[in-house]
Amino acid sequence: MWDRFLRACRREPVDATPVWFMRQAGRYMAEYRAIRANHTLLEICKQPELALEVTLQPIKKLGVDAAILFADILLPLEPMGAPFEFAAGEGPVIHKPVRSAADIEALRICQPEEGLGYVLDAIRLIRRELDGKTPLIGFAGAPFTLASYLIEGGKSSHYARTKKLMYQEPKVWHSLMHKLSEVVRLYLRAQVQAGAQCVQLFDSWVGALSPLDYVAFIQPHVSHILKDLETTGVPVIHFGTDTATLLELQRDAGGTVIGVDWRTPLDQAIQRLGDGVAVQGNLDPLLLDAPRELLSARVDDILTRVGGRNGHVFNLGHGILPETPVDACKFVVDYVHERTAR
Ligand code: CP3
Repeated sequence: MWDRFLRACRREPVDATPVWFMRQAGRYMAEYRAIRANHTLLEICKQPELALEVTLQPIKKLGVDAAILFADILLPLEPMGAPFEFAAGEGPVIHKPVRSAADIEALRICQPEEGLGYVLDAIRLIRRELDGKTPLIGFAGAPFTLASYLIEGGKSSHYARTKKLMYQEPKVWHSLMHKLSEVVRLYLRAQVQAGAQCVQLFDSWVGALSPLDYVAFIQPHVSHILKDLETTGVPVIHFGTDTATLLELQRDAGGTVIGVDWRTPLDQAIQRLGDGVAVQGNLDPLLLDAPRELLSARVDDILTRVGGRNGHVFNLGHGILPETPVDACKFVVDYVHERTAR
């Protein structure tokens, strides 16, 4: 069934549990590395033909039930006025990190068609190719996760500058959150309009915050995005990691599917989240590198915890890592389908 992913997101019965993997296009695949040998990551994102090709690689190779647009959460930073690059071995580098009230004042609330038209073109192209075969997921980064890159200038372990701004200058912090949430809201809406059949909000690093700070500094802004997106009618996946203490707050902020990382047993997450949302998750990505017997036991455990309830999208608890064996990914897709065939 081509739409079992969308049906599971809507908590409807499915013929088998749908599977896709966060970061399913990437360096663990030889086909991706072959394209990367000749193009930078940003070139792939900015040329719709290349983005299409890379988006389709895991569909062809693994038989996953959803495609995720090939792009990156950082792309909107450039038209906002904060250009960056992906430096080899270092990850993202923001050329001029945003740290003062004046820096934040200078950031633009860009219209998606202006600086991100290439993403919308890629979506239209991919939809034409996949129509009626595999649903397409669009995505964006959430305000805290984007702010952490903007302020720290790259990846960070303690988010020290980010939290300093949040705690010491709450007004300035909220003005940054307001700009980011408006950019992300418009961008995701434009993705849906261009043809994305589902969108995922990646709040990958929000688990660095306590529940109290999540409520005070983050939740209203995430809610601004998600409540608006819910009115488009497409499923909205709300994802974060290290969120064991935040799940109910994330659900209240919005989203029709809640992404759960591997630290929380999925039956507990389902019980805490209640019947109003679907869940996505939650295999530890490193189990893909474990002996096959342990891998299948952990997949079984997740499926047992779900217990055949409607509203489960099988995924990892976070993205695939570069050293992951492709055959293990393929094994999980087939195994979940076989085990859950109804
Ligand atoms: O899931 C997919 O297949 C779609 C493509 C996708 C990419 N990035 C491409 C990419 C998605 C959904 C993302 C999201 C993303 N990007 C997140 C949130 C998801 C998560 O994993 O938490 C974050 C935090 C980023 C920011 C980012 N982009 C970082 C930190 C890095 C460097 C990581 C590294 O391992 O070097 C990137 C680069 C990036 N984005 C790659 C890919 C496939 C690395 C591959 C390459 O250099 O070719």
